[in-house]
Order: sequence, then C-alpha cells, then structure tokens
Amino acid sequence: MDLLSFTDQWQRQRQLLFKAVPAEGRKVQYLGKEFLVYPDTFWPFADSLPLVKHFRIHPGESVLDVGTGSGVIGIFACYQGAARVVGVDINPSAVRSATHNAKMHGFAGTMEVRQSDLFDALGEQHFDVITANLPFRNKQAHDVVAMSQWDTDFRTNTRFFEGVGRHLHPKGRIYFVQSNFGEIEAMMRLAQAASLRVAELARESIDDTRRQEFIVYEMTLA
Ligand SMILES: C[S@@+](CC[C@H](N)C(=O)[O-])C[C@H]1O[C@@H](n2cnc3c(N)ncnc32)[C@H](O)[C@@H]1O
Repeated sequence: MDLLSFTDQWQRQRQLLFKAVPAEGRKVQYLGKEFLVYPDTFWPFADSLPLVKHFRIHPGESVLDVGTGSGVIGIFACYQGAARVVGVDINPSAVRSATHNAKMHGFAGTMEVRQSDLFDALGEQHFDVITANLPFRNKQAHDVVAMSQWDTDFRTNTRFFEGVGRHLHPKGRIYFVQSNFGEIEAMMRLAQAASLRVAELARESIDDTRRQEFIVYEMTLA
C-alpha cells in the first residue's frame, strides 16, 4: 500500500478512536506524563514529539500554542518556564481537554485556553514564541474531528501564515510541525510569502522503517 493510502486508513481509525472516548474522558500517556482527552479531542502522539523535545522556551517568555488539542505543547512550555501561555483551538472539546490538563499539571495560573479559529480571539496580542501542530494534509475535513488531521484546501495553514506575523514579536520564533506525508512544499511557499526564514530543527519517526516522519521547523522573521 502506498504511503498516502496507508495514512488515510490510519488517520480514519484514529478519528474513530477520538470519537469513541467515554464522556468522562480517557487518560493517555505522553512523554511520561498523564493527560486527559474528552471525546472528539486529538490524542497527543508522535507528531508533536520533535517539537516538544527540541523547542526552547526561556524563563519568562510568552507562548501562543495554536491548535492546542489536549494542550500538551503549551503545558511543556509551562514546564520550561514560560511566564504566560495561551492555547487556542477551534474545537470546544479540545478547549475543555486542554483547560483540564493545564489545571491538572498545576499551570491554571500560567496557561489560558480559548476557543478560537486561529488568531480570531486574540485581538492584538503579541508573543515571544508561537507553536503550531496544525493538520498537515490538504484533504476535505467534514467534521471537527477530521479537522484535527485534515485541512480543507489547506485554508487553515494558509490563514496561519497570513496572520502569524501580526502576533509574533519582531525577534520572536515559531515552532511549526509538518510530516513527510503532509504538504512541506506548500508550507515552505507560505512561509516564504510571509517573509519567514525556515530551518529544520528536528525530525522523528515512529518506527525503524522511517515510513512516517514528523519534522519541526524553527521560523523567524527575515
Ligand atoms: C494535529 S492536532 C494537534 C493537537 C496538539 N497540539 C498536539 O500536538 O497534540 C491539530 C489541532 O488543531 C486544531 N485546529 C484545526 N483547525 C483549527 C483552526 N482553524 N483554529 C484553531 N485550531 C484548529 C484541531 O482542532 C486540533 O486540535
């Protein structure tokens, strides 16, 4: 089976799992810590690992985590000493999961979670660091669960790059995840159009075959 058909099947199975979570939520392990996901929330997985293992937050920095899901990236930013973290997600179930997890990890006073279509609920706020593990693939998403993995006409990614400069401090940095089964070329074109310098920071695979790879890029304003 080719990589895209294999990935289609695997992602559909994951979406069924996200939907089948009981109303009280399900505990999942990620990098040795426990998180709770409510039904319809994306479960933390290997895709975010290169970002979480390699990003650097200096104590006192402000962080915006776009598409926060269960909140894992924002919560690890808190563990690194961020002074303030805002997590945004379009999916109300993700907002509930991330709010719960921030509190469970003792960061209710540091991390705030808002329901927002990308930057819509942020006003003119600026951040030192912006992290994003958005859906990698340009594929029709018919519901909010599919929207955690697929981006219809790559519109969310396109709007991310059109808007991100308005929320990043001039000397700030972006940590952005993509995959070898995603749209790396399209991402590079969007980043270039947004006057961003792009450097690969790390990549990881879930198994030795390296069939599926997840890559994190560090981006700064040129
Ligand atoms: C691949 S998941 C990543 C979740 C989490 N950050 C992680 O790494 O485990 C992508 C997330 O982006 C969210 N998302 C998709 N489109 C969005 C949009 N337009 N605005 C805000 N969040 C969005 C989805 O609901 C989902 O929670």
